[in-house]
Amino acid sequence: MPSINLGQRELYYHYMGQPGFNKGKVLIFLHGAGGNHRIWEKNLSALSQSHSPMALDLPGHGLSKGQGCTSIEEYREFVKEFVDVLGLKKVVLAGHSMGGGVVQSFALAYPNLLAGMILIGSGARLRVAPQIIEGLKEAVSTGVIPSNAEWAYSPNTSKDVIDKTEELLAPRNPAVQLGDMLACDKFDAISTVTQLKLPLLVICGRDDKLTPVKYADFYVKNMPQTVMKVIDDAGHMVMVEKAEEMNQSIMDFLNKM
Ligand code: COA
Repeated sequence: MPSINLGQRELYYHYMGQPGFNKGKVLIFLHGAGGNHRIWEKNLSALSQSHSPMALDLPGHGLSKGQGCTSIEEYREFVKEFVDVLGLKKVVLAGHSMGGGVVQSFALAYPNLLAGMILIGSGARLRVAPQIIEGLKEAVSTGVIPSNAEWAYSPNTSKDVIDKTEELLAPRNPAVQLGDMLACDKFDAISTVTQLKLPLLVICGRDDKLTPVKYADFYVKNMPQTVMKVIDDAGHMVMVEKAEEMNQSIMDFLNKM
């Protein structure tokens, strides 16, 4: 399985396509806080029929080595180096939650490297509830991360899907997850992201409590190129809760680009 050396850190990426990345569009998925590439399993397998999708593990996550970061900009620079080392041009960056923050920061810093952006359960500002941050601070000393399942899924998502998803995300590192949440809490592109003219697809679960539909509406109101898809019976983990609907929205978006 591919990994790539960036200075001191070895980053893992999951890619199921042919060498050369020349089928359809090149798509890089970035997971959210405390996540890893496995969260995109159902999306990579469907989209790789016609495109070249891959999922990166950010530093300190999944199979990537090194420490996590505490700012979106630090993560952005790893993604920039990753894109440069693989020699990718005009990629579509797709990010979930914190990953969506990285996508927006990347687009603001390096718009010419992108063909488009996809934001999934994300927002132009990502303030984090103080109780989530406090819970993670405690977890750093106890080693036990409080479950956020109550916040993360639609009430209509089955226990089976929730259990399988939580398994994909295990084991979680409390310090890395705390760093991610602090990075989200500082992120604010409300007054800058609107200048971007890149094609934009915004996907949100109707029952998302962590990044509510209101956050997606912001793009529709302020960026006329936005295509928005709100998916019923899905929460913050829409990519697993309603994978097929999400894949179809992405296919439609990529095919029209
Ligand atoms: N897009 C559009 N509007 C946004 C926004 C976004 N990304 N982020 C915040 N806003 C709006 C809010 O809805 C609010 O509008 P209102 O005054 O009309 O209600 C305003 O901007 C200020 O919100 P915020 O920056 O979030 O500050 P706050 O002090 O009102 O609330 C929290 C802070 C942490 C309590 C709140 O963000 C929250 O409940 N978050 C919980 C969800 C969470 O932790 N998510 C994790 C994301 S990774």
